[in-house]
Amino acid sequence: MALTAQNVTIRFGGVVAVNGMALDAAPGEIVGLIGPNGAGKTTFVNCICGTYRPNAGTALWLGRELLGLSPHALLKLGVARTFQNVASLHDLTVLDIAKLGAAARGDAGSARSGGFFGSEKALEAELTETLLRPLYLADVAHTPIQTLPYGRRKAADLARALAAQPQLLLLDEPVAGLTSQEGMAMAAVIRGVRDRFGCAVIMVEHKMDVVMSTCDRIAVMAAGSKIFEGLPDAVQSDPEVRRVYLGEPG
Ligand SMILES: Nc1ncnc2c1ncn2[C@@H]1O[C@H](COP(=O)(O)OP(=O)(O)OP(=O)(O)O)[C@@H](O)[C@H]1O
Ligand SMILES: [Mg+2]
Repeated sequence: MALTAQNVTIRFGGVVAVNGMALDAAPGEIVGLIGPNGAGKTTFVNCICGTYRPNAGTALWLGRELLGLSPHALLKLGVARTFQNVASLHDLTVLDIAKLGAAARGDAGSARSGGFFGSEKALEAELTETLLRPLYLADVAHTPIQTLPYGRRKAADLARALAAQPQLLLLDEPVAGLTSQEGMAMAAVIRGVRDRFGCAVIMVEHKMDVVMSTCDRIAVMAAGSKIFEGLPDAVQSDPEVRRVYLGEPG
């Protein structure tokens, strides 16, 4: 496995937000992470992505320990994320946001793209064609992000993460707040990126139609721990998952 996280644990005062969580992901695999509100999904991602330093655990990525590294150091290793709540970065345009991501390309990404210092125009054209157009952002490439509706800001955040050409991509509710058409377009782009670059993807998401149609494997979290893991069909038909997450009587 390219990513192997084990026993990840973090406490906030008396609350154990993530408790002995384990998850792994192979290159080219999209792993769904689902579970009820407050289960610890975002906090787990925050532990892997350097936002939080967990109290215990390991997360090996291609043999390197990720836990405790800064987001910048993680990007250099090819680890990128998107955010559940997208901040509006004031005057930056959609293309600026994508360029921020490209500027953070890890060494492997820069080598692949011939280095982004080559030509600003070539980079802009590349980002527009490979990311903005498929994400329906090409027509607003020069629009300040703060003036755009939520769905477009969310897509721009995904463009930023993808522009870094990550090898490990962590997505926190990429389609939340989007129309189902926007959500399906976003899911198609995520699958397309996986197909093209073979990156490992961990996708936190509540929208079950997107999770079921996008993920190769799904882990279910509740109260800070993993309660089930399996293929989409197995997750959907597991009685405990149905009770805890899908709200069915036990
Ligand atoms: N910085 C923090 N300080 C204190 N408690 C926190 C902090 N971050 C998260 N928590 C707590 O950790 C628990 C898990 O929250 P988290 O946001 O990870 O859940 P989630 O599974 O992402 O939920 P949702 O589906 O609603 O996004 C919650 O009880 C939350 O209140
Ligand atoms: Mg969350």
